[in-house]
Amino acid sequence: MSRKNQSGPRSTVVLIGLMGSGKTSIGRRLAARLGIQFIDADTEIEAAAGSSIHDIFELHGEQAFRDGERRVIARLLDGPVHVLATGGGAFMTDETRARISQSAVSVWLRASLDTLVKRVERSRTRRPLLEAGDPREILSSLVEERYPVYEEADVIVETGEGPHEPVVESIVQELRAFWQASGDDGDGEERAAQEVAAASDQETE
Ligand code: S3P
Repeated sequence: MSRKNQSGPRSTVVLIGLMGSGKTSIGRRLAARLGIQFIDADTEIEAAAGSSIHDIFELHGEQAFRDGERRVIARLLDGPVHVLATGGGAFMTDETRARISQSAVSVWLRASLDTLVKRVERSRTRRPLLEAGDPREILSSLVEERYPVYEEADVIVETGEGPHEPVVESIVQELRAFWQASGDDGDGEERAAQEVAAASDQETE
C-alpha cells in the first residue's frame, strides 16, 4: 500500500492526568511538534453547553457534566487525528476509556502531589472539584482513586515543575516506540521514504 501522502501520527493522542498535570500547555506544544491540531475537551464541552464548566457543575451538577464530557469526547475521537487534552475525570468513565483504547493512543502525564498542588495554586482556571475543600486533600484522594486507573494508559510520562519542552520530547520518543511496537511508527513520511528507497533498490538489483 502506498503511504506517500500520509505523514504524522495516524491516531489521535489523548492526554490524561490530574488537574495541574499540564495537559493543556503540554498538549499545545505536542500538537505543534507533531504537526496536528490541538483540542481541549473542556473547552469543547463549554462550547457545546454554552456555559462554563463552573456553571455546568453549579447549575446542573457533576453527573450532567460527566454526560456532556462523555458525548463530546466520543464525537472528537470520531473526528480527524489531533492531540486531545481531557479533563482529569474523563478517563474514569468506562465508556470513554474504552473508546480511547479502541481508536487513540493515551498518554498519562504523571505528576507528584506537590507538583499538582503548586500548579493548581498558580493557575487561574476555576476547578469546581477543588472549591469543595482543601485542594491538597482533594488532590491527594484523587491520586489514590484515579492513579490506579490512569495506569492503563498506553504511554506514561513523568511531569515535574520544570519546562515543558523536555516532557514534549519524552512523549514524542515514547509515542514513536509505542507506534513502532504496534506496527505504526507514527511517521509516515519517513516510512514512505524508506519504502521508496527499498523499492528503487529492488529495481536496480
Ligand atoms: C475535572 C478536571 C477539570 C474539569 C472538571 C473536572 C476532574 O479539568 O474537567 O473541573 O474531574 O478532575 P482539568 O483536569 O483540565 O483541570
